[in-house]
Amino acid sequence: MSEAKTVLILPGDGIGPEIVSEAEKVLRLANDKFQLGLELEHALIGGAAIDAHGVPYPDETHAKAEQADAILLGAVGGPKWDELDTAIRPEKGLLAIRSRLELFGNLRPAILYPQLADASSLKPEIVAGLDILIVRELTGGIYFGQPRGVHNNEQGEREGFNTYRYAESEILRIGRLAFESAMKRNKRVCSVDKANVLEVTVLWREVMEELAKEYPEVELSHMYVDNAAMQLVREPKQFDVIVTGNMFGDILSDEAAMLTGSIGMLPSASLDKNSKGLYEPCHGSAPDIAGQGIANPLATILSVAMLLRYSLGAGEAAAAIEQAVSQVLDQNLRTADIFSEGMQRVSTADMGKAVVAAL
Ligand code: IPM
Ligand code: MG
Repeated sequence: MSEAKTVLILPGDGIGPEIVSEAEKVLRLANDKFQLGLELEHALIGGAAIDAHGVPYPDETHAKAEQADAILLGAVGGPKWDELDTAIRPEKGLLAIRSRLELFGNLRPAILYPQLADASSLKPEIVAGLDILIVRELTGGIYFGQPRGVHNNEQGEREGFNTYRYAESEILRIGRLAFESAMKRNKRVCSVDKANVLEVTVLWREVMEELAKEYPEVELSHMYVDNAAMQLVREPKQFDVIVTGNMFGDILSDEAAMLTGSIGMLPSASLDKNSKGLYEPCHGSAPDIAGQGIANPLATILSVAMLLRYSLGAGEAAAAIEQAVSQVLDQNLRTADIFSEGMQRVSTADMGKAVVAAL
């Protein structure tokens, strides 16, 4: 490789540092084994950055993030920082890096690993073979719309408000990512909106219809978000790719992840227009189990695989990591979150070690 590529590692808070440390070992091994020539850097985000610098996304972290070719993140947040104003909470660090790097395209796969079919709270026949991709818009919508705030209204009453807005170009680029993703899968896109009530999603629906003309092979359908929430538990396998806005995607992706019974297994990617990306597990910082060495590092390890595939063009290394994860599941190794009768319960570090050994 002519020029070294850089991966920035942001462990964050809670279980973040524990799971990222295992994922980093896997990344280092893949780097050697496949001669990827990657350089690894580290920086602070979230509560850890608040403690050190008073802000959740320091300029120094942003400078490194801008330089990096890809970013691996653990998780942010925890009760320690819950009393802080929303403007400087750890979560704001995550929103800031997404927004400042324009990581608009959030891919959240919900896959049921055959080895974990019993872990779902749904009947096995409903979820067996489940493989859905949620494409969530990540830098717009009600999360970022202005104006926003809490003020005293004309009646002297406190009033909170947020703005739900999408420009056509924002809808187009996330739509395109969804259609392109569907082309590599089962060629079905379900666009989720609330077009019976919210004008912004009437536009969303229109833009998706226009875009669909460019992808004649892809079947586009539309669903209201309340119905989509219901259909996801009723018959989840009807979906291939779901594309939706920031807030609906936040909610539906948690629901979809839980269908698999193993949120500790699910990676995610947040991409900019050049496929530079931030990769993180779908789960949060789980402060209740932080420091106990029982968290599942597999979602973060699988995020490393996504990172290699989408941002560094190292598909072979990515596939090898995914294969190694499948192998440790075949060896019946389970962290507490996916443990069941007859399996071998292992720690975060032992799970990491097993993946390294398999790789
Ligand atoms: C997620 C999280 C974040 C979000 C929070 C931590 C800001 O829930 O990544 O889904 O709402 O986007
Ligand atoms: Mg969420």
